[in-house]
Amino acid sequence: MAYQLDALGRARGCNACAKLRRTMGKTFDIGLEVLAAGRSARSELALGLSHGSTGRGTFFLETFGCQMNEHDSEKVAGVLLARGYRQVETPDAASVILYNTCSIREKAAQKVFSRLGEFREKQHEGKIIGVLGCVAQQEGEGIFKRAPWVSLVCGSASYRKLPELLTELENGNHRVTGLETDTDETFETEVTRRDHPWRAYLTIIEGCDKACSYCVVPYTRGPERSRSSEAILRDVRQVADAGYTEVQLLGQTVNSYADPMARRMRFSELLLAVADVAGIRRVRFTTSHPKDFTQDIVDAIDAEPRLCEHVHLPVQSGSNRVLKEMQRTYTRPQYLEKIGMIRASKRPIAITTDIIVGFPGETDADFEETLSLLDEVRYDGIFSFKYSPRPNTRALSMRDAISEEEKSRRLAVLQDRQREIQIANNKSQIGESFEVLVSGKSRREGQWSGYTSSHKVMNFTSQAPALLGTYVQVTATDATPNSLQGEHVA
Ligand code: SAH
Ligand code: SF4
Ligand code: F3S
Repeated sequence: MAYQLDALGRARGCNACAKLRRTMGKTFDIGLEVLAAGRSARSELALGLSHGSTGRGTFFLETFGCQMNEHDSEKVAGVLLARGYRQVETPDAASVILYNTCSIREKAAQKVFSRLGEFREKQHEGKIIGVLGCVAQQEGEGIFKRAPWVSLVCGSASYRKLPELLTELENGNHRVTGLETDTDETFETEVTRRDHPWRAYLTIIEGCDKACSYCVVPYTRGPERSRSSEAILRDVRQVADAGYTEVQLLGQTVNSYADPMARRMRFSELLLAVADVAGIRRVRFTTSHPKDFTQDIVDAIDAEPRLCEHVHLPVQSGSNRVLKEMQRTYTRPQYLEKIGMIRASKRPIAITTDIIVGFPGETDADFEETLSLLDEVRYDGIFSFKYSPRPNTRALSMRDAISEEEKSRRLAVLQDRQREIQIANNKSQIGESFEVLVSGKSRREGQWSGYTSSHKVMNFTSQAPALLGTYVQVTATDATPNSLQGEHVA
């Protein structure tokens, strides 16, 4: 198979995913795609921005973390390419080595420092080593102490400053930082190097104004800042012109979108407007916060088939008491009301979620409530995590920590329960026909894979010669917990 993304098409700071994503970039020769108004791919080549150009230097960019980080990396690469840098595949070949980092759980953050350690010696070769993203924002100048061979530290809220910071380094400055989070601007770039062949990612809202007691994101990504609906729609038209048929709108709380323009387009109106752009066949959005999830979003999905039949609605816990301690701002019944709203839709909307086990003080009874919530909602997929204490967060000082052993046990129980649900859900779809965007070709002759509108992986057989990037009808003939199997209906 040519590539894989996790079930949400987003990255999770996990090693295996990071490896997959690194290989992904090499599998496809996508080239550049220019977002600046009026520029075509041809004029971009004339500007010498392609991979083959000679310029100031070379950069290697490795990314950990969520889909927003992945997309930030696409934009950072765009900024560097526009300045005449050339992107290379290995740190050895690069004059600038950049890590875009994730700090969501302790392991993810530790990995960054062990990776940086591997490059300790490189400083003597005159290479610039930079740390971007959430660990950069969280640790700040502390990174220079822990890894003195690093010369650039910049968090996502300051990426607009990146060109300036690079100039300072080129002028001989040894240590530069971009660590402000109080900007009300978003990181908009003229050039974005897009790493996915058919799906274009667009951040519509940056940062997070929620205050979940376990989470570093509000500290690492700053306050919420929404892009204007006009700028978003302009970008969508441009990616559609460049041949993309699927758009995924991104935000840590994507449905908290607040249009800064006078017209104040609601999130559901924006979804409809994006779906209406010529050439766009699928619109996805992630991640929705339950508090801001409203009926008009379901109505929009019902009214517009180009809005995908999938909502990712993280619950985190099934226990009211734990939800309160987590400061999630909703109760179990309120969350279930939102689920009821989605289940009452005319279209069969798939629902996925995120769950944390072993939050401080989580009792067996609390955990049982999470299991019973799984039974009640019957999710199409879950992402489950062991609670990890994070710096600056309120939960860090909470008592009654759950042992690692117990967290692992609960995680295994949760995942077993969910596996059963997914097998049953997927088996019930055998015999149904699905539209699939074909995104992978197996080495085995006649074997393909892609995603349904509900974001299920569909592996299927077809004798057609060239299907990548096309939409086909596939009938499901078998199912596993994580995928459907099927046959192309000619
Ligand atoms: N903004 C999204 C997701 C944020 S991060 C939301 O609010 O749902 C993705 C997931 O990581 C979270 O949904 C949560 O399940 C998990 N997560 C965040 N902080 C964590 C921590 N300290 N320990 C374990 N999992 C965590
Ligand atoms: Fe973190 Fe909560 Fe914001 Fe999601 S909504 S990013 S979990 S603080
Ligand atoms: Fe990680 Fe930052 Fe995303 S902490 S999950 S990269 S917002």
